[in-house]
Formats: sequence, C-alpha cells, structure tokens
Amino acid sequence: MKVAVVGRGNVGGGLADLWERAGHELRRIGREGGDVSEAEAVLVAVPGGAITEALDNVQGLEGKTVIDATNLWGVEPPAGFSSNAEYVKSRTNGPTAKSFNINFAVLYDRIREAGSTPSNLWCGDEEARQVVEQLNRDVGYEPVYAGPLENAAAQENFLKLVAAISQGGLGPFLYRMAPPDQL
Ligand SMILES: NC(=O)c1ccc[n+]([C@@H]2O[C@H](COP(=O)([O-])OP(=O)(O)OC[C@H]3O[C@@H](n4cnc5c(N)ncnc54)[C@H](OP(=O)(O)O)[C@@H]3O)[C@@H](O)[C@H]2O)c1
Repeated sequence: MKVAVVGRGNVGGGLADLWERAGHELRRIGREGGDVSEAEAVLVAVPGGAITEALDNVQGLEGKTVIDATNLWGVEPPAGFSSNAEYVKSRTNGPTAKSFNINFAVLYDRIREAGSTPSNLWCGDEEARQVVEQLNRDVGYEPVYAGPLENAAAQENFLKLVAAISQGGLGPFLYRMAPPDQL
C-alpha cells in the first residue's frame, strides 16, 4: 500500500519504519508539507494543536482515507468540532479513522515480543476499516473496533484514563509528548 505520514516523529516516523518493513511504500512529510495525492492511506501524527497548520501544508487530501493518531494535551480540537478526527474528515471528505493514539510509540519495537497480541483501538468510518485494520495488523496489533467516528472524542479523552492509571502506580507512562506536570 502507498502510505503517507504527516509528522515524522515518534509516531509518524516509528510507524513508517514498521510499515516499510512490512512492505508498504512510505512517503514522510514534515513541517515543510507535501503532496499525498498518490497515497492510498494517510496517517496524521503531529501535535494535536498543530493539526490545522499541518493539514494546510498538505496537498491532495481530498477523498483520502486518513488515520488520525493525534492527541490533545492542554488544547481543544478546532472550533466547531468535538475531536481532531472529525475535523480531519471535514478537511478531506474521505474515509476517516482514529487509531494509534493510545498505544505508546516507545514500545513499537517490542510489539512482536508481547506474550499475546496487543490490541489497538480504532473508531471511524466503515469505509476506512480495511485500511486501518490492515495497517494495525502489519505492525503487530490486533485492531479493536470502537464504533463510528462520533466516538473519536471519547477515544481522544481515553488517554487521560491511561495517564491516571499510570499515576496510580499500575504501569509506566511512556508517552513522550506528555508535559512533565501531567506525568
Ligand atoms: N509519543 C507517543 O507515544 C504517542 C502515542 C500516540 C499518539 N501520540 C500523538 O501523536 C502525535 C505525534 O506525537 P509524536 O510523539 O510522534 O510527536 P513528535 O515526535 O514530537 O513528532 C511530531 C512531528 O510532527 C511534526 N510537526 C509539528 N508541527 C507540525 C506542523 N505544523 N506541520 C507538520 N508537521 C508538524 C514535527 O516536525 P519537526 O520534526 O519538524 O518538529 C514532528 O515530526 C501527537 O498528537 C501525540 O499526542 C503520541
């Protein structure tokens, strides 16, 4: 599959490496922007508050299947939207999914070492199912469907529970993006 990643940090760069190893053709786009018109799937993995600016710099998004992996730390989704993922759909008018926003990027290299296959949530449009589930399986996750795109806000907020569980001492919080006062 031809996959473009917008944001090439821990998540975008990390997943791009894994997908490349799985045989996909990757295009990596950073702040400078770029064209995704050739891509069959686009991953958005920029800081949650930078989503508008990031998409402004990307051409060829119309109708694309997009997976939004962003989270919102101390910022709100763009005005008029309950989630970044729904905002993404408003910009693309294509199949949209929220996925890869809960699992820690720092563990990407250890997914296949897990005693049982780790799950990864996705919610979104049925038309995105095949792409998002394949891209999950190709890095070693078992995709778990969490409902339609209207559930994206709940999935974005779910990270707060993961952080709270971690603060409760039940596991390390390995999210490099988290500001120190939220760890
Ligand atoms: N880290 C995790 O474990 C994890 C897990 C799930 C979800 N997330 C979420 O995924 C997103 C990315 O996290 P990350 O850890 O990969 O962050 P990161 O390592 O800081 O990477 C962010 C990437 O976005 C790029 N970027 C920043 N502003 C941009 C803009 N305006 N236009 C285009 N690209 C821009 C950065 O470019 P430069 O390299 O030029 O700075 C960088 O390549 C965040 O929303 C985060 O909350 C993170």
